[in-house]
Amino acid sequence: MKLVPVGNEEKSVDILFALLAERTPGESISHQQMPLLENHRKFVMSNPYQVWYLIQVKDDYVGTCYITKAREVGISIFQAHRRKGYATQALRDMMVLRPGKFYANINPSNEKSQQLFKGLGYKLLQVTYILDAERKTWQEQMADAEAAE
Ligand SMILES: CC(C)(COP(=O)(O)OP(=O)(O)OC[C@H]1O[C@@H](n2cnc3c(N)ncnc32)[C@H](O)[C@@H]1OP(=O)(O)O)[C@@H](O)C(=O)NCCC(=O)NCCS
Repeated sequence: MKLVPVGNEEKSVDILFALLAERTPGESISHQQMPLLENHRKFVMSNPYQVWYLIQVKDDYVGTCYITKAREVGISIFQAHRRKGYATQALRDMMVLRPGKFYANINPSNEKSQQLFKGLGYKLLQVTYILDAERKTWQEQMADAEAAE
């Protein structure tokens, strides 16, 4: 296995877009809807993370992994390549390349990701709640909740 920097390559944009297309809302926190290809390209080209890699196995790209500037780790493996130990190996390799503290923010319904990070020695740190301020104010949400009772 090899970790290949994403860089500014058009090839990376396409591989990462295909990976996004496979993801379901329950697997992710940040990615709930498919972005437009153009917006996705801008994001990739903006060099958003501390490090960002494609995971290469022989001639195939099997997934991606990254560390954000806040030391949050992300990983995604193409469905056809899952359960072969690639996520475990890629995360281990990346953590060796960039040693230090790591966080993993995981959707609570994403059991397999929780198992993956527990297996790598990560410990549960906190439970974070969100009130979606962009959609409704908290007063509106409280009023909705009261109306539903
Ligand atoms: C989560 C994900 C990265 C795991 O990748 P993977 O290459 O299949 O993982 P590995 O083969 O290294 O498996 C490592 C461990 O993860 C857990 N795991 C992986 N897939 C699992 C599944 N389908 N069910 C239960 N546990 C699972 C297991 O504990 C596994 O260890 P084991 O095989 O010894 O039982 C992959 O399923 C994926 O890309 N999912 C979509 C994106 C995502 O959820 N990313 C994480 C967001 S934080």
